[in-house]
Amino acid sequence: MLMNAATPTAPASGGSAAPPAADKRYKILETTMKRHQYNPDALIEVLHTAQELFGYLDNDLLRHIATSLKLPPSSVFGVATFYQYFSLKPKGAHTCVICMGTACYVKGADRILATLEKHTGIRAGETTPDNQISLITARCIGACGIAPAVVFDGTVTGKVTAENALSLVKGWSKHGSR
Ligand code: FES
Repeated sequence: MLMNAATPTAPASGGSAAPPAADKRYKILETTMKRHQYNPDALIEVLHTAQELFGYLDNDLLRHIATSLKLPPSSVFGVATFYQYFSLKPKGAHTCVICMGTACYVKGADRILATLEKHTGIRAGETTPDNQISLITARCIGACGIAPAVVFDGTVTGKVTAENALSLVKGWSKHGSR
């Protein structure tokens, strides 16, 4: 008789989707939650950090926060939808989050922002009329060691200069406008 040789594998993450290990943003978010000792009262603060890091709060992210803070997902979704500040959808096809926290500011974050605002013709918090690029500013995304830090389409990038930020965003415009 033939036996099924497949070895059962243990689920990697206790049921909920594990955050991608290579995504630095999750690490930074983890540090924030740890700093608050995973206290459910820190939910708004944690959502702020998440929004600054990711540009918006998607389902997986909200679920991850709910699990980490031991809150029912419904409460987390409730808070995220109640406050206008939080966005549940990406705004533009590309998102650029510029950290304006002190460490980044003293290393030229304002120049990066000014350069990108000039190029895109929009201000921080806005999306280009063709819905291609959203510019967002954050306070401190927890990557001060590599200041100035910018999150380009989900990738935390350190030691950014106005020039390389501009060439990257120009690349988006080229590929994005159809
Ligand atoms: S001030 Fe920008 S990462 Fe901390």
